[in-house]
Amino acid sequence: MIVYIIGITGGVGGRVADRLVAQGHTVTGMVRSDKQAAALARRGIGAVLGDVAKDTPERLAQSIKGHDIVLFTAGAGGRDGPEATAAVDGDGPGKVARAMEIAAVRRFYLVSVFPEAWRERRMDDDFEHYMVEKKKAETQIVLTALDWVILRPSALTNEPGVGTVDLGLAKVHQKIRRDDVADTLIALMARPDVSRSILEVTGGSTPIAEAVNSLAGGDGQ
Ligand SMILES: NC(=O)c1ccc[n+]([C@@H]2O[C@H](COP(=O)([O-])OP(=O)(O)OC[C@H]3O[C@@H](n4cnc5c(N)ncnc54)[C@H](OP(=O)(O)O)[C@@H]3O)[C@@H](O)[C@H]2O)c1
Repeated sequence: MIVYIIGITGGVGGRVADRLVAQGHTVTGMVRSDKQAAALARRGIGAVLGDVAKDTPERLAQSIKGHDIVLFTAGAGGRDGPEATAAVDGDGPGKVARAMEIAAVRRFYLVSVFPEAWRERRMDDDFEHYMVEKKKAETQIVLTALDWVILRPSALTNEPGVGTVDLGLAKVHQKIRRDDVADTLIALMARPDVSRSILEVTGGSTPIAEAVNSLAGGDGQ
């Protein structure tokens, strides 16, 4: 597979990239500095300078062209205010989808969020804005003609992965390790027949390969 990752310097994106490279796949990612590009090069990962908040679809298409798959796992992380959340988490995926149409790349994986996340709590305005923007992005993607998969992980942690998850159409929002999200994404990428699906994943006891295989209703043949 030849995979382009937006969010490659992040927790999930970096894990996906390292795993794919270790498995012999080719990975390129969007970076915002030469220093990030040099760090990725040392790990065998290609990099293209870009900014999903600022770049046009036409410019993004130049970077995306020639890849089999695009993974969007970027997020503004609330660090640069609500405008950045809107531009990255909200409008970013739709812009990338338009770029993919220009570049004739069909397979899109979007890391999103459980809509039910912490609905039982009173959250601050920034979190509520983040949730609205994440939903906006999902809506833009499902309206495309791309072969998309939206994966909604529950709250992310950095503990070592355990190789098991609870994956399906609707799950209870709990916690999941970034390692296990990365392995789930890669298992999904290996199954192009799982397409135009919104999936939720949280910590659980089903081996990842088995969880992904059961989605397609077969044994992978
Ligand atoms: N945290 C949670 O519990 C949680 C739960 C469910 C879903 N999610 C979602 O899961 C995804 C992955 O989360 P994570 O914690 O792995 O992310 P993360 O470590 O915060 O990484 C965010 C990534 O987005 C990139 N980014 C930010 N603004 C950008 C821009 N304008 N242009 C290009 N790239 C940009 C960052 O690049 P730089 O290094 O250049 O800043 C970084 O690579 C996110 O979409 C997040 O919203 C998170």
